Amino acid sequence: MTKPLEQILSQDSFNKNDLVTLLNADEQQRQLIFAKAAEIKEKYVGKKVFYRGLIEFSNLCGKNCYYCGIRAGNKNAHRYEVTPEEVMEAARYAWENKFGSIVIQAGERSDKNFVRRISEVLKQIREMSKGELGITLSLGEQTEKTYREWFESGAHRYLLRIEVSNPELYGKYHPNDKKHDYQKRIESLQLLRKVGYQVGTGVMIGLPFQTTEDLADDLIFFRDFDIDMVGMGPYIEHEHTPMYQYKDQLMSKIDRFYLSLKMVAVLRIMMKDINIAATTAMQAIDPLGREKAIKVGANIIMPNLTPTSYREDYLLYEDKPCTDEDAEECKRCLEARIHMAGGEIGYGEWGDSKHFRKRKGEN
Ligand code: 5AD
Ligand code: SF4
Ligand code: FES
Repeated sequence: MTKPLEQILSQDSFNKNDLVTLLNADEQQRQLIFAKAAEIKEKYVGKKVFYRGLIEFSNLCGKNCYYCGIRAGNKNAHRYEVTPEEVMEAARYAWENKFGSIVIQAGERSDKNFVRRISEVLKQIREMSKGELGITLSLGEQTEKTYREWFESGAHRYLLRIEVSNPELYGKYHPNDKKHDYQKRIESLQLLRKVGYQVGTGVMIGLPFQTTEDLADDLIFFRDFDIDMVGMGPYIEHEHTPMYQYKDQLMSKIDRFYLSLKMVAVLRIMMKDINIAATTAMQAIDPLGREKAIKVGANIIMPNLTPTSYREDYLLYEDKPCTDEDAEECKRCLEARIHMAGGEIGYGEWGDSKHFRKRKGEN
């Protein structure tokens, strides 16, 4: 006999069975989860939504993840790297508009010149913004030395999604080689923490072969790792990827969306003071996807600052939003959307994970 959902929601901690029941909630029942998550969000992190201006620095990638539209093997992708001047322009825009923080994201590369270019850009941004702009990196697996160099150059948060916490499934979505090693990814997450970053991770939701039990394990993974930030969203197929062959086995996009929303809400209930992103992939399915995520627990949003001419090329999945808009349009659009979702924007604040501060004993 499974426990009633109301009973589970009144508990302080959840086992795997509880999480599976929550994630399986139907249309009616899920409203109870959403209401509880909204209440917890209000109490522990408040109404504020923090911005992370996103700069998609380059779509060159040395890896070949089977799901990703910018994988090395996709010869249809037109490759680019934003110039240092353009990065500075985007960072200045973020600073002048009081975004508080930016994220620099790119495909995974670790050649010396790339590592150096990133360090240079980090130092320049720090100087330009007088250290006021928070900087998050999302540049994949790197050596401890590189992670340290970037940390010392001014980055203080790092996002590295585990993608899927079950090693067996990880093996299904990635080539079986040293470059795509599950254990190495775990070690990278540990290294990031050791170096001193606030560490974010995340998963994709609604992947082929993935079960609700697997997603419950993903939530348990976040908790056991005592993660500071999470960004997760629906898996969306991309035509020029090997995983496209399973497109007929997927649940409907709208089901993937609601499952993602339940993941966000349940995670907020489990980890009350972490930062959770309302991800772009959620909006790729539902035009109000990010607002809905904010209502049920997310408190971070990433307005796109990538120069418009490159946006079409950073296509991780189909129907990615904001490819025709520019920074100003996304800013205005998001402002309206966040207010509509009952949120307030944390202008000019870093909006660090309260969880991180607490662990460091600063609160
Ligand atoms: N659908 C959804 N998310 C994807 N990502 C990559 N490909 C896809 C896809 N097809 C996500 C991965 C990666 C992040 C940058 O984009 O989780 O970590
Ligand atoms: Fe490269 Fe990241 Fe895409 Fe994998 S998911 S192919 S590492 S950009
Ligand atoms: Fe980019 Fe709405 S956020 S157009």
